[in-house]
Amino acid sequence: MSASSDSVRRLTVADILRMHADGERLPMLTAYDYPTAQILDEAGIPMLLVGDSLGQVLLGYDTTVRVTMAEMLHHTAAVVRGTQRALVIGDMPFLSYASVDEAVENAGRFLREAGATAVKIEGGVRSARIIEALVRAGIPVMGHIGWTPQSQLGMGGKVRVQGKSRDAARGLLADAIAVQDAGAFGVVVELVPEQLAAIITSRLRIPTIGIGAGAGCSGQVQVITDLLGLGDFRPKHARAYADLRGTIHSAVETWAADVVAGTFPAAAESVRMDEATLEEALGRTADDRAPTMADGLPNGIPLDRDL
Ligand code: KIV
Repeated sequence: MSASSDSVRRLTVADILRMHADGERLPMLTAYDYPTAQILDEAGIPMLLVGDSLGQVLLGYDTTVRVTMAEMLHHTAAVVRGTQRALVIGDMPFLSYASVDEAVENAGRFLREAGATAVKIEGGVRSARIIEALVRAGIPVMGHIGWTPQSQLGMGGKVRVQGKSRDAARGLLADAIAVQDAGAFGVVVELVPEQLAAIITSRLRIPTIGIGAGAGCSGQVQVITDLLGLGDFRPKHARAYADLRGTIHSAVETWAADVVAGTFPAAAESVRMDEATLEEALGRTADDRAPTMADGLPNGIPLDRDL
């Protein structure tokens, strides 16, 4: 599907829920910038998440905890500008939803200032009260359970599959139900054993969007740099569908070699001006040459030797 026709309109949460009800599997990708968002939108990806993963994959931070509201709004606005059809979801950064008041204020900024349609927040039972308040304020919310990167430091610092023990599995089921009951329109399920993710999916009315959670989810999300082979690290759950790192590397090497060899730019990449105008500008016309310094006459137009 392409988003390039004139009749394109932006998808709503109701459209996503209808697709889910119709049994469609839902693809979602992260996007952080205008040109990539344009391409993903033209390719018909229905949901784009401006994930706080941008901290690591785009800005070079060691953790998502460092990502600020200002950075998220800046990138979300670029993604919204690059899209006509995709539903754009802004990821609320660390501590931006610590209280109900902060959550409503900051989620409102994603919609008002950046033009997002929805926000995502991490946490199940622990975030239910916040999700409820946002939904009551008219802000569509996607939940995020399982591995929640913003809690990485609080969870021991190591990325870990969640829900592998009896109690942890029960906790995740409770998280999923809490997010749904709070009014979220969907929930990301990250790094969860595939059987458990499939059971969670079967018990929810809202779609589950898996990442590292097996094929039994209602949809899948991937970090775009993993999918395109652009990052310097690829997690086990990701599959690279391209090698953009290699493509970019060889393109810039070839370009630099052309610069060194003097073969870039060529005539096709350069502009020429009218020769007569250039002659005039340089004072090389017959009129300009008439009164020369050799004649001891003043010369108002600079000759090219004077430039
Ligand atoms: O920040 C992000 O990109 C995410 C996805 C991995 C779900 O939260």
